[in-house]
Amino acid sequence: MKENTPTPTTTEIPRRHLLFSWLWKCVAAIGILELSWVVGSLFHRRSRNRKTKEEGSIIINAGMLDQYKPGDVKAVPEGKFYLVCLEDGSFLALSRTCTHLGCSVPWHEEQKKFICPCHGSTFDEHGVVLTPPAIRPLDYFPVKIENGLIRVDISQARRRDSFDASQTQHS
Ligand code: FES
Repeated sequence: MKENTPTPTTTEIPRRHLLFSWLWKCVAAIGILELSWVVGSLFHRRSRNRKTKEEGSIIINAGMLDQYKPGDVKAVPEGKFYLVCLEDGSFLALSRTCTHLGCSVPWHEEQKKFICPCHGSTFDEHGVVLTPPAIRPLDYFPVKIENGLIRVDISQARRRDSFDASQTQHS
């Protein structure tokens, strides 16, 4: 006995064809949207990177002037330094590397000093040694302020024997 299955009519075939065509267009459109989202987010991430290279310098943007007030000490992990806004409103960028044996030195806000976790050296907000075994201050990096933007050149840490105002930048 022959089954009674309906055979597609001539109008159903183009309709099915049209449906598949639209389906493929939708899949392609979604693929293009996803691809442009991935490319866009990669570009955005790259442009957010605060590190730039300029003729032998490696510049880190450490924020705007109005983000700081005297007494602030802010870690800038991208540059491995602290930006200190001193009491006179000037800025000093201090390397976070201990001058004893190179450990990373955290800032202790409640004690207002850097305390090295390795052998206990301490440094004040100018990076000057308060407690040995470190014998010289934390290195510093030059700071520039342009249109309210604080820029720090981390291409070379500067060694010093003491603190003086030439190591800072006024706003
Ligand atoms: S490495 Fe900092 S005190 Fe030794």
